[in-house]
Amino acid sequence: MRVAPKDIQSFRDDFTYSNSAEAIERFPFPFAEDEYRYSVNMEPHLPKGGEGSAFEKFLDIDEHYLSEMAERQKVLNDMPQRCLAMPHMDLACWDMVERIMLSLSADYPDYFSLTREGDLWSWENKLLNIKDQFTFGDSSSLPMPPLDYIGRQVQGDFALLDQREGDLFLDAGIITCPADWSLAFDAGMSFKEWHGPVPMAHSEGIFERALKYLIAIPVGKPVRRLNWTLTVNARMDTSPEKYHEWGHERASVTPENVGEKVYLRVEVQVLDRMPRSNAMMFSIRTYLLSLEDLVTNKEWAVRMHRAMKTLPEPLINYKGLTRFHGTVVDYLSQFDPLN
Ligand code: HEM
Repeated sequence: MRVAPKDIQSFRDDFTYSNSAEAIERFPFPFAEDEYRYSVNMEPHLPKGGEGSAFEKFLDIDEHYLSEMAERQKVLNDMPQRCLAMPHMDLACWDMVERIMLSLSADYPDYFSLTREGDLWSWENKLLNIKDQFTFGDSSSLPMPPLDYIGRQVQGDFALLDQREGDLFLDAGIITCPADWSLAFDAGMSFKEWHGPVPMAHSEGIFERALKYLIAIPVGKPVRRLNWTLTVNARMDTSPEKYHEWGHERASVTPENVGEKVYLRVEVQVLDRMPRSNAMMFSIRTYLLSLEDLVTNKEWAVRMHRAMKTLPEPLINYKGLTRFHGTVVDYLSQFDPLN
């Protein structure tokens, strides 16, 4: 059974965010082996894990829906530039409106509905009390630009990549919960350029192989990959623009509070070809799980310990874990019988 969205919790200040037992059980734990290394880890985005799993539907709507939408609103009110679409991406934005409305209304008919008569569309989002009629493709018929409009109604950050010259360019996006990267900084960059800061992967040819794979993805064959990091406190918006608000929290982790303060942050990333514009839609759906909740699953606790203990130094530094990585490994070691 899928758990219904619960009342709003916070990802800042008093951090009231919490996971129910069901949310812990369906958490997309990312480690398939005891050692973690970068790889071209992509697979078809097909249902996996049965009813209620995070991989059951194309877009996962879960108990945190209202909280994440409220958090997105706060970020956009403060910094509207976190949503950006270059003029040539207009068609791609409408592609995305269609993809999201069709999939949400088909997968969650109790929450979302869409009726279409030619270009006249009626959309209802019962969770957010939104009901609008608009003309598909005509941005003036919506209360705000199409990317902004739909992005405020779906969990996860979204980027739209323009494909040209055998490359992908980051020309649009709504990014309010990034793991320490900036849309404003990366806007207009190519695949290898925006991945510039990532260690090890360039020399191992990972980005070259990934790009070849991506530009050949056809319409209707979405793929997914997982990425992860650790975040101190249940903070969604760990953007460079707000570093002054969260960077210092890395120094607040102690052996006493590490279980409740450090969160495994997992991104389920889906790449989907858009039918009219040929753009790529890239969604980054973020899940947060505190270490003390994670270790309630004994297999995860052991694996997490081993993956953290053997993490290469360049990854520890790049992911921003340097100050508290040792504390995390020490904490997790108590759950590993081979330790
Ligand atoms: C990191 C975007 C696809 C592998 C990143 C970063 C961004 C990004 C903005 C952070 C870079 C920084 O430090 O500033 C995207 C977008 C994609 C995409 C928009 C859509 C095309 C992929 C694919 C792979 C990949 C297909 C597969 C190999 C990675 C890796 C990292 C990374 C390994 C480092 C993550 C970490 O250690 O936390 N990506 N990426 N990315 N990306 Fe991608």
